[in-house]
Amino acid sequence: MPLHSLVSVEKKGLRLDDEVHFIRSWFEKPLATGAVMPSGRVLARTMARYVDPTVSGPVIELGPGTGPVTEALVKQGVDPARLVLVEFNPVFCRLLRSRYPAATVVQGDAYRLRRLMENLVREPAAAVVSGLPLVTKPLRTRLRLMSDALGLLAPGAPFVQFTYAMVPPIPKALSGVRAEASELIWMNLPPARVWVYRGS
Ligand SMILES: C[S@@+](CC[C@H](N)C(=O)[O-])C[C@H]1O[C@@H](n2cnc3c(N)ncnc32)[C@H](O)[C@@H]1O
Repeated sequence: MPLHSLVSVEKKGLRLDDEVHFIRSWFEKPLATGAVMPSGRVLARTMARYVDPTVSGPVIELGPGTGPVTEALVKQGVDPARLVLVEFNPVFCRLLRSRYPAATVVQGDAYRLRRLMENLVREPAAAVVSGLPLVTKPLRTRLRLMSDALGLLAPGAPFVQFTYAMVPPIPKALSGVRAEASELIWMNLPPARVWVYRGS
């Protein structure tokens, strides 16, 4: 493909390099990567819409990958300096650091969230936005992650999670937690849904 075509593809928001990085990561670690392709723009935008950029505090993103949701958060009005990006894959971390130099990129295991954020997040977070392949984990690990996330969030602030599954990634009937779901997003491959959990 000639260079000018690559540039126009980049302008349309489709970063071919990102897809190559992503597919490679999926081949190496399919369960941890959790998807063959990065999320599409409609899914990323739907996730970002649950984040109110006027609410102060850090916005923590778990499993940002090559950053499609990160980009949607910035477009939504979140200052990149407020972003704390927790990613396992060192290649994705390098990419995110070069693309969002003002953000804090933490290379680590998001399922150890409380410990990872201990000395990093000092005020209640405005949102936790997760692209982790949560359903590959046992329920108790998912519940611990959400409990850690709710512990970091300001009261009523959202824990946003997408899933390709037909069932909620975390049960919706938990005491002290309100859950809501988006419509199924058919414009994503595969179709996905966004779930939002808030402490009440
Ligand atoms: C399904 S991909 C989503 C990537 C991106 N958010 C998107 O929407 O395209 C899952 C991402 O979570 C990362 N990941 C998986 N397990 C992780 C963990 N325990 N801690 C941090 N990141 C993890 C993977 O490396 C991958 O980037």
